[in-house]
Amino acid sequence: MAGSGYDEHEYDVIVIGAGGAGLRAAIESARQGAKTAIITKSLLGKAHTVMAEGGCAAALANADDRDGWKVHFHDTMKGSKYLADWRMAELHAKEAPDRVRELEQWGAVFDRTPSHVINQRNFGGHTFPRLAHVGDSTGLEIIRTLQERGIHEGIDMFTEYTVRHLLKEGDRVTGCVAYGRVKGDFKAFSAKSIVLATGGITRCWTVCSGSWEYTGDGHALALWAGAELRDMEFVQFHPTGMVWPPSVRGILVTEGVRGEGGRLFNNQMERFMFEYVPEMFRGDHAETEAEADTWVEEVVSGKIATVRRPPELLTRDVVAKAINEEVKAGRGSPHGGAFLDISHRGKEAIQKKLPSMYHQFMELAGVDISEEMMEVGPTAHYVMGGVRVDPLTQESTVPGLYACGEIASGLHGANRLGGNSLSDLIVFGKRAGEHAAQRARNLAPPRIDEDQVKASIATMLEPLQRGEGENPGLIYDEMRDMMQAKVGIIRTKEELEEALEDLKAFRARADACFPGTDRRYNSGWHQALDLINMADISTVAALAALTREESRGGHTRDDFPVPDESHWGQHLNIVWMEDGDIKIRQERIEPIRHDLQVSLDEVKAMIKERAEEQGGGK
Ligand code: FUM
Repeated sequence: MAGSGYDEHEYDVIVIGAGGAGLRAAIESARQGAKTAIITKSLLGKAHTVMAEGGCAAALANADDRDGWKVHFHDTMKGSKYLADWRMAELHAKEAPDRVRELEQWGAVFDRTPSHVINQRNFGGHTFPRLAHVGDSTGLEIIRTLQERGIHEGIDMFTEYTVRHLLKEGDRVTGCVAYGRVKGDFKAFSAKSIVLATGGITRCWTVCSGSWEYTGDGHALALWAGAELRDMEFVQFHPTGMVWPPSVRGILVTEGVRGEGGRLFNNQMERFMFEYVPEMFRGDHAETEAEADTWVEEVVSGKIATVRRPPELLTRDVVAKAINEEVKAGRGSPHGGAFLDISHRGKEAIQKKLPSMYHQFMELAGVDISEEMMEVGPTAHYVMGGVRVDPLTQESTVPGLYACGEIASGLHGANRLGGNSLSDLIVFGKRAGEHAAQRARNLAPPRIDEDQVKASIATMLEPLQRGEGENPGLIYDEMRDMMQAKVGIIRTKEELEEALEDLKAFRARADACFPGTDRRYNSGWHQALDLINMADISTVAALAALTREESRGGHTRDDFPVPDESHWGQHLNIVWMEDGDIKIRQERIEPIRHDLQVSLDEVKAMIKERAEEQGGGK
């Protein structure tokens, strides 16, 4: 077994995480001439990026030439319930098309239109078909492309190493300490800049679309290093995860199914989404089945749709809550979800446009989706909140510490539009890598502080030396069940207060658990360490949820069921850690720049006019 010594490594820029954001950041950093490494706790290709299946949103205007950055900006702001950082939403809408074309130049094989340009599909909340896609495996293709490109840029890779602590000198970040998951060895890294790209926190809930990696590591590293987090109450429950069989509950069923015309039914075979169109979306969504079906026919036949969109393509927060309501009212499917039907598209089209979904249901549930309906229900998929970053550079409130992709916050506000995560990670991954490398250019290599490294290693080894205690796996399961029950789609003051008390107890149990003594291949040890981040980050999410006394996007309070525009519509929750305690404060949103407000008004008027032409404007 390795001793408690450690290897030392020196880099200009270290990127933690090898999903789309991490890879894109590392590519940019290396292209700027910075000596760059990626550290990932998992294997390459395992990132949650692959769970963005249906596409990458960018206003290429290939499917509808009325699209453009202003409409994408408008849709992102509206989808976010106007809590998004408007500077990030502007940069994202303007830069996404170039980033998608760049991926194409690097070898990504997107689906094509008959005139051989990148095809774009419909997703909820996007006014026009906007998602560049590769069947229903878009994230996978993007990861494959970035990995290949990364190899040519000369990036060093440390796979199966989990970063446990960030090193600091004064205020600034100077490196990190990691343990090897295979041998249990330790490594200390000196870095002039660090980019966090560790993805999300959704393993904190029992029913989720993410795999074992999504335990909020980066969120916790940032919190412990003194960085501010924002919007942590906003958790996206994707409306359609598998609900049966139990072993696959939570696995994603892409929104692409609904984008291709999928219809949702309750157990009365009612197309219930017509009952759930919120006021802010009236006018741009169909009010009758005939209208919605005409839309599908037009889209299927490759025409520009002239009628309003089906209500299945409302934003995710709306659809997830609607399914939840139907189940609560006793109108759910046999295993506690809703029925999703795409069989009317026929086997050939389904196998062409949704090949992974066809196989997923056939292999995992024995369901042929070209003939039978799927059973689906909400699954924790994404956290809108995360590390507070500068909109231009992606630097956090800690100098030298950057964040991009899901771990960063700002672009999505209270609710993310589907497809905006893949575009987020290529736009802001590039920006983070560029600025991290620029910063590194002007600095001398930081010294590795031996005392900090030794203290970090001692903390990591401590669980192995306890001699006795609970199995961490039991605490892990119970804590996730508690989050599912008390910090789920619908929240109340009482349950959130209970959750905060429960989390204190889980944290104490985590501090006393015993994963055995071996450091080699000991997933119990890894879990014992993960429990600490999960408890801290769950506490942040529950505290922010308790504080926000309104319902908005991915945060619904049964006791405060409507949005409160006068206060909460104008404020963000900012969370940070001070002397080991988690603190929270509210900060007023900066008013939107005048020209962007003018753009929003223009787009609103265009959408209204279009709806009126179609006879349903309100
Ligand atoms: O449904 C999906 O394909 C997921 C996409 C996303 O989260 O952006």
